[in-house]
Amino acid sequence: MRSVLLGAPGSGKGTQAGIISEKLGISHIASGDLFREAASRGDDVGNQAKTYMEKGLLVPDEITIRMILERIGAPDCTKGFILDGFPRTLEQAKALDIAMAEKGEAIDLVLYIKVGTEELVRRLSGRFICQSCQTPYHIVSSPSKVEGKCDKCDGELYQRADDVPDTVRKRIDVYLDKTTPLIDYYSEAGKLIEINGEGEIDGIGESLIKALS
Ligand code: AP5
Repeated sequence: MRSVLLGAPGSGKGTQAGIISEKLGISHIASGDLFREAASRGDDVGNQAKTYMEKGLLVPDEITIRMILERIGAPDCTKGFILDGFPRTLEQAKALDIAMAEKGEAIDLVLYIKVGTEELVRRLSGRFICQSCQTPYHIVSSPSKVEGKCDKCDGELYQRADDVPDTVRKRIDVYLDKTTPLIDYYSEAGKLIEINGEGEIDGIGESLIKALS
């Protein structure tokens, strides 16, 4: 199964991709996590990405496409993968389709997690992330068992620099402008399934896994 999770910042892509990856045994590829890891290593891609991420802007397609196509070519992706945060522009979606077609493959399914703007802002302003394994928590709806520590790996939790109100609003605007055209793109290709992303995390996870199965 080669699938894509599509949705606004804070719609729950990372949370749900983690659940799906664990239950179905497929690799979870998150473009934002890859950029943050590259930025903390201080390599070229990371340094370039950081300047865009801090402003809530998209990293240029050329850099992003190269990074993701290289990642999905890794051996752990042969069984399948779930993409979280990529593609985010029509150019990225088309580049992905072309690269996969060259290997005789295709994206099987795109799961669009739909959440209203007010709820997105509420979620992002209360989010904490594990420094080590990137698992997201929420101060109210999904707190860690021990304050400041990850339940899975005991890593330190931190608040992302782009989760401040002005940058959150910018990220949502960029999503509406650049990413929502993908809803029609995948819908016309007969690959899109819309899932209501508001409600219990486990219930949404079940709906997504049902759609994938
Ligand atoms: P990225 O890291 O991909 O961020 P994003 O898309 O903005 O999405 P988020 O990680 O903010 O949210 P999410 O949907 O994963 O929600 P989560 O599960 O954490 O990208 C960051 C930046 O990198 C971009 O701005 C850009 O600069 C760059 N970038 C990345 N990909 C790129 C690309 N393809 N092209 C160009 N640039 C790119 O959940 C959010 C919170 O809500 C958590 O606290 C969680 O616990 C809580 N929550 C989840 N589900 C529920 C629920 N059902 N009910 C209540 N709370 C919930």
